[in-house]
Amino acid sequence: MLVNNQNYRTVWMQDKYVYLINQQLLPHKFGIYKSKDYIETANAIKTMIVRGAPAIGATGAYGVAQAALEFKGNNFEKFKKQIEKAEKTLKSTRPTANDLFYAIDFVKNKIMQNITIENAKKDSVKYANEYADWNVELCRKIGEHGNKLINQNQNILTHCNAGALACVDFGTALAPIRISHYNKKNLFVYVDETRPRNQGASLTAWELAQEKIPHAIIADNAAGFFMKKGKIDMIIVGADRIAMNGDVANKIGTYEKAVLAKENNLPFYVAAPLSTFDINSKTGEDIPIEERSSDEILYISGIDKNKKIRKIRIAPEESSAKNPAFDVTPAKYVSGIITERGIIKPMKDDIEKFVKGK
Ligand code: MRU
Repeated sequence: MLVNNQNYRTVWMQDKYVYLINQQLLPHKFGIYKSKDYIETANAIKTMIVRGAPAIGATGAYGVAQAALEFKGNNFEKFKKQIEKAEKTLKSTRPTANDLFYAIDFVKNKIMQNITIENAKKDSVKYANEYADWNVELCRKIGEHGNKLINQNQNILTHCNAGALACVDFGTALAPIRISHYNKKNLFVYVDETRPRNQGASLTAWELAQEKIPHAIIADNAAGFFMKKGKIDMIIVGADRIAMNGDVANKIGTYEKAVLAKENNLPFYVAAPLSTFDINSKTGEDIPIEERSSDEILYISGIDKNKKIRKIRIAPEESSAKNPAFDVTPAKYVSGIITERGIIKPMKDDIEKFVKGK
């Protein structure tokens, strides 16, 4: 993605360091977080310096590479133990996004095929980079397939951030929007603010502004108002995990947008790479939902007049809060899933055909 005329990925690795666009600071400051080891990388995923399913996947892959490079000695059994320890730490950061598990397994399985530690170390970086490059390509293809669904002069609603920041580059839900914009389609994007962490208001809006794509942020509870008024033509969201029956886990609030879309006869598309499908989740009931700190509900953070980032409490001291980070949209509300291999109907047989062929 272009930031101040310079091309950036959300995550990359150089020497033993993992670099991340620090998403805790956006949109107020653009900064790069430098992680020196896999523990710091795991912590960056947990604290959402990096977030979004494919982005945490690639970060997890680089975390495995760091764990390999950090190893000292020549005992392969001990090396294996170090990788397994890192795998456990990295996988325990966030439970819902399938890509995190997929990417970590991808790199781990590749390096374990080696018989020397030296080769395993080299392969760890090679395959983590391969994973990241592959994700960029998948997102481009998702963009091309999704572009065909978007007509001239359309108004599109999106929820949370499924843009370049949520991936390695380009995005999933924002990829068709980007390609349509590059193809000179006149679009307008309604951006759900996406409480409690406001990924829409702070990240999606920032990305769209960088690309000069016309947009407006709306309160989460305004989506129905705009749909009913005929101001929205379609909805495109990303996904954290998709079950084999087409149920989709995505940022909390996605489900109610899907129900509203059906009520208003609007197409509701999910954009995601095939690595988001979980062959072990038969239905959405099998998808683990992350519960995050109640502070995310009770406090809000932003920048004050003196350009200081502040966190302030918005609820009574006596009140508690509940904060599930994701919800599951039943397949019946999904018009189609835009993948790198085309658009899939959210039905078991279609999904199996695509996913097993990946
Ligand atoms: O909690 P987050 O910010 O990691 O949640 C992100 C989302 O829900 C995205 O929509 C999803 O990961 C798809 S990203 C291409």
